Amino acid sequence: MGGGSDQDAHVSKSSPSWTTRTEAEDGGTRVINLDHGDPTMFERFWQKMGDKCTLVISGWQSISYFSDVGNLCWFLEPELGREITRLHQLVGNAVTEDRHIVVGTGSTQLLQAALYALSPPDASEPMSVVSSVPYYSSYQPLTNYLKSGLYKWAGDACSFNRDEPYIELVTSPNNPDGFMRQPVVNRSGGTVVHDLAYYWPMYTAITSPADNDLMLFTVSKCTGHAGTRIGWALVKDKEVAKKMTEFIVLNTIGVSKDSQLRAAKIIGVVSDGCQNLDNPDEHLFQYGRRLMTERWKRLRDAVNQSGLFSLPDFPSNFCNYVSEVTEIQPAFAWLKCEGDIEDCESLLRGHKILTRNGKQFGASTKYVRVSMLDRDETFDLFIERLSSIRL
Ligand SMILES: Cc1ncc(COP(=O)(O)O)c(C=O)c1O
Repeated sequence: MGGGSDQDAHVSKSSPSWTTRTEAEDGGTRVINLDHGDPTMFERFWQKMGDKCTLVISGWQSISYFSDVGNLCWFLEPELGREITRLHQLVGNAVTEDRHIVVGTGSTQLLQAALYALSPPDASEPMSVVSSVPYYSSYQPLTNYLKSGLYKWAGDACSFNRDEPYIELVTSPNNPDGFMRQPVVNRSGGTVVHDLAYYWPMYTAITSPADNDLMLFTVSKCTGHAGTRIGWALVKDKEVAKKMTEFIVLNTIGVSKDSQLRAAKIIGVVSDGCQNLDNPDEHLFQYGRRLMTERWKRLRDAVNQSGLFSLPDFPSNFCNYVSEVTEIQPAFAWLKCEGDIEDCESLLRGHKILTRNGKQFGASTKYVRVSMLDRDETFDLFIERLSSIRL
């Protein structure tokens, strides 16, 4: 076990279900699994929202493969397209005008659709896919697992110096370290996929609407509904959007309509909550920001006290969405072991804290990635246990 899986969705068999035990009652025996990025932190918000998102789908509904035959992405439910556009306009985090929306089974499927769409079908060599270290640990396996003749993983974007076409994956804010990012290769013949899964106000300041050619988003990190498996791409170029649609048709003949309708409902409730100024408790981004602020403060206090670890420092920026200066509060903590400790993941595993090893992100084993998005109970135990570590 441990940092075993590359996928964020990996569920540890050794991770017991949700409990409310404290560390003292638990005797330090419970395995705290913060390896994956499962966004269960949002569960409480949605419990409080009660039946607002309840959706009844009758047996006769959602039967056809087709959703909107007039649309380039003919399996996109129009309601979902409308709610995605409305939310981006409200938050101001992405330009939606003159963009095609391609829906996918999570942004994981869209990422592969993008690689397929951006690689020429008849090149003599597979296209190089790069991302700068530390990069999201799923990029390498997702690129290579089918041993495609179209594209192949070529590692760290910072050291890519071949005179050939490439695709650069830019994650901003970045998973694992939380920093805002720009492309680094900047050579001719390159295209960029902007993975903006975390460009939402609970994680970072919204400084301007992202205006890139190919942008990926997901409900997993925006509303916390990772299990609904809905992501979307905003794509400027019509031919690229067509090829991404073609990939999804070949791969899964579209995307679950039931999931799309549920995602549309949930995103709509998020937008309504943001607009309802009378009831701040229904404002998902405010809820998320508050919780992340508190968690990051507690984590920094524990890390400062221990003297064994360190965390990145982030710049503050003016957030257009909340109209004030806010700090970056990433969905993951990129924790470094200081001094002679070379393998941070093993050290923490020895204390029954499961994290993801820095080497899975192309970085040093001195680092681990820790999910900040788990339930309160798990996070509380984590802080208690981390604070008690002595060498
Ligand atoms: C940067 C990044 N991109 C994509 C994904 C995948 O998201 P989805 O659940 O939509 O497949 C994740 C999930 O952790 C992520 O961190």
